[in-house]
Order: sequence, then structure tokens, then C-alpha cells
Amino acid sequence: MGHILLIPFPVQGHVNPMMHLAWKLVSDGFLITFLNTDFNHHRIIQANTKNSIHNNCDRIRLISIPDGLPPEDKRNNLPKLFQALQNSMAPPVIHKLIQDINDREEDHNKITAMIADIWTCFGLQAVADLCQISFAAFHPSFVSNCAIRYFGRRLVSLGLLYPDGAPKEDKKVKYLESMPPLHCGDLPWLYGGEYIFEKGIRMGEEIKQIKWVLFNSVYELEAPVVDELSKELGGIAYPIGPLIDFEFLQSDARQTAETKILPSFWTDEVDCLEWLDKQRLQSVIYVSFGSLAVWSERQVKELALALDAIQRPFLWVVRSDLMDGSEAVLPQGFLERIRDRGCIVSWAPQLRVLSHPSIACFVTHCGWNSLQESITMGVPMLCSPYFADQFLNRTYIVDVWKVGLPLDTNRDGIIENWRLTEAVERLLVGEEGVDIRKRVIKLMEICRNTVKEGGLAYRNYYRFIEGMKKQLI
Ligand code: UDX
Repeated sequence: MGHILLIPFPVQGHVNPMMHLAWKLVSDGFLITFLNTDFNHHRIIQANTKNSIHNNCDRIRLISIPDGLPPEDKRNNLPKLFQALQNSMAPPVIHKLIQDINDREEDHNKITAMIADIWTCFGLQAVADLCQISFAAFHPSFVSNCAIRYFGRRLVSLGLLYPDGAPKEDKKVKYLESMPPLHCGDLPWLYGGEYIFEKGIRMGEEIKQIKWVLFNSVYELEAPVVDELSKELGGIAYPIGPLIDFEFLQSDARQTAETKILPSFWTDEVDCLEWLDKQRLQSVIYVSFGSLAVWSERQVKELALALDAIQRPFLWVVRSDLMDGSEAVLPQGFLERIRDRGCIVSWAPQLRVLSHPSIACFVTHCGWNSLQESITMGVPMLCSPYFADQFLNRTYIVDVWKVGLPLDTNRDGIIENWRLTEAVERLLVGEEGVDIRKRVIKLMEICRNTVKEGGLAYRNYYRFIEGMKKQLI
């Protein structure tokens, strides 16, 4: 029916939704070639092997190319990664890759389409045209994150930003008509300065040339901004999220050999699900800060002390590289003290965790995938953003959808004991928390219904599939 080359931006939060898209496309009959960097490919294969998972789906072929960074680089500096990819994933490289794949394939299996992450799609429409294949860009997070970058130049000419993207006002500003007022720190490019601001503007110019831009987002969550961007782009912005495979979630995590290859760079510690089985309904605080956050020893220790003091069960993801590549240092005696009510893993099967009935709330860095997964599983959030779009995401969680509360840090980025205690009490005890839970359940239903037959995401997705097929004829 068709063979699609998928090109994610090589970080976990982008590879995950792209893999879920791959599963979806396979169930619609497509053959997928999934392009990772060598570095990530190796980690994915290693993590799956440790979980005894083998790629039993011959419809998804994993291939990889170098990312151009030295082996010792930790790949958590996004501007540096961007720069390296400019050469390693340049249009001529992708063109050659498509030619090489096609040289090996029978006529009926030649590449017919390419979908590239919004951050790896530069110049690829021209490659697709040259190869006479369909092309779409994929935005792994919500439309608001794209729109504010897209309109960056206009915001400069309106006098709201300096030419390098820095905000002029140290107060909440209504940057776009369709978006809520944002605090200056919410602007998603600030962590990378002018380079990332410019990159966002280039991304905006790029997507104007593209026929389809697919968003891992839900129209109903941000309708005004989808409409505004869509109008600007001539109707090509398609929210098709949440890209979550509900069938996969119902399978048994321990029957791993039977399942699909997972996109995780770390090995899922599935034993935590058994631990969750033993906890009371809606009692556990799930704590995770995604794949890129890097913490100091003090930040880790203070959060450990706060979790210790709170006297509630918790499941905490402490990545093996959380402290800039080295093992996290926990306070002395901590593990013994929390043995009866705490579970610490280095990587959780997060979707399964969030859908577990014992989860009460999610202490999150507000990465887009984490927040969308949380809403789709009906779990309220405590928000402690780390960088990039996560401050913007928090504003939506707290001020717009009202499905979570802020969990601020002190000036050193530390979540102090009293802050966690106060936020947890507000969320889990009393009226405020009840209302938040009601709202998140309502949004959960919206997110689940939109991908069902007849829902908007469902229709957007099949409009795209039909469009691709037509282009084939
Ligand atoms: C990054 C940025 O931080 C985020 O803001 C951006 O929108 C996407 O890229 P990351 O920090 O990793 O992503 O956060 P997030 O978007 O939440 O993605 C993390 C993914 O890893 C989620 O799909 C989550 O389910 C998964 N995960 C996380 C696990 O499977 N296990 C874990 O223990 C932690």
C-alpha cells in the first residue's frame, strides 16, 4: 500500500510519539522505515533486549545514521544537537538514503512518503519532490508551541520582543489573540537564546511550503490557536493526537516478547507495576522529570527529603544520568526509611503507570508527552517545569485547562519540603483538588473520544492518509 520513511528529531520526547505514529500507520497497512541516529538506535535495541523484546513486527524496520557528535557527548544540549544534525541529516544525506533503500527494494516496496519531525524537516520538501513522494511534517507537541514561534518575527515588529526574541516586558503579555496571556519566562526559545528563536522562525517559513503538518495534539485543547495557525497556513495544520496506542496499554507488560518494539532509550522497569498493584486506589504520587532534565546533587537530595517527609506512597523515576551523566546521590538512610512506601526506578513504563488506578497525581516537568499522557489517563498534575516549552505547557495546565497546580522551586531550582507538602495537600485534600480531578476526567474523555471513529483527530488522520494515497495515483 505504501512505504513511509519516518524521521524523528533524536530525543526521547520526539521519538516516542513518532513510534506511536508508526504503529498506527502499520495497522493501516503501511510499511515503515524508522530512522534513528546510531546513538539512539543502539540504546533502543539495548533497552528492548534487556526487556526481552524483539522486533516481531516486520512492518517497522529500524535503520540508523550517525548524528555527527563524538561518542562521549551526552546529547542533552539541544542547540548543539541541532547544529550537528544540520550536516548529518542534511537534505542530500536523506536523498541518498531514500535512493539506497529504493535500490534494495522490489518495485512494490519503494518509498512512497516521508514524514519528518518539524525540527528535522528543513529542506526535505524539495527532496520529496525530487523523489516524487508525499511529504508531511510532524510536530510532536501542541500547536501553541509551534504558533508562538511561527509568529516570532511579527511579535518583534509589533514591539513585543527584541530582535533576538528576548521579551520586552517582565509581566504577563497577550502575545497572540488566540493564546492566553503568557509570562515572559513562558516563551519556549529562551533556553537557547537567539539561535533557537531564529530556528523557530525558519521552521515557520519551512512549514509554509509543506502540504501537511501533523500535530500530536488535540484540537479541543487549543481550538483558537489551531484555527489561527491553520488560517495562516491555508488549512494544513492537523491535530491527530493523542498518539497513544490504547490496545498496547491493555496488553500484559510482562508478556514482553509478544509486544511491539518500544521506543524507550532506557529499560522499562516493569516490576514497579506489581508494586503499584499493592497500593491503595489513587494513593500514589508519581514523580518524573522526563528524559532531558539534569539536576544537581542538592536538587535530588532535597526532593528525596520532601518525598520522605510527605508520608504518602510515591513512585519516583531517578534516571541513571539525571545528575549530568552520573548516578544520583540520595540522602543517607533514605532508601531504608522509605522502603515501605516508596519505589524508585531508573525508567518507568510511564503510560502503564499513569493508567494504573493507584496513581493519585503526577509531579511532572510538563514535557508535552507527559502532560498529554497524564490528561489522557485522567491524572491531575503538579507542575515543575525544567526548560523549553515546559513553562508554556504549565501555563496551559494551570491557567487554561485548570487540571494541575504549580509546584514552584526556589531560586536554585530546589523543590523544598514545604512546597511539595503544600501542593500535594491542595491537590489531594479538599475542594480545589476535587474540582481539578473533575476537569481532568472531562478532558480525558475529550482526548479519548477524538481518536475514536468519527472524532476529529480520527478524521484528520484519515484525511491525511487518503490525501497521501491520492498523491500516489
Ligand atoms: C522533551 C521536552 O522536554 C518536551 O518539553 C518536549 O515537548 C518534547 O521533548 P522530555 O523532556 O523527555 O521531552 O519530556 P516528555 O515530552 O514528557 O517525553 C518523555 C517521554 O518519555 C514520555 O512519552 C514518557 O511517557 C516517557 N517516559 C518518561 C517513560 O516512558 N518513562 C519514564 O520513566 C519517563
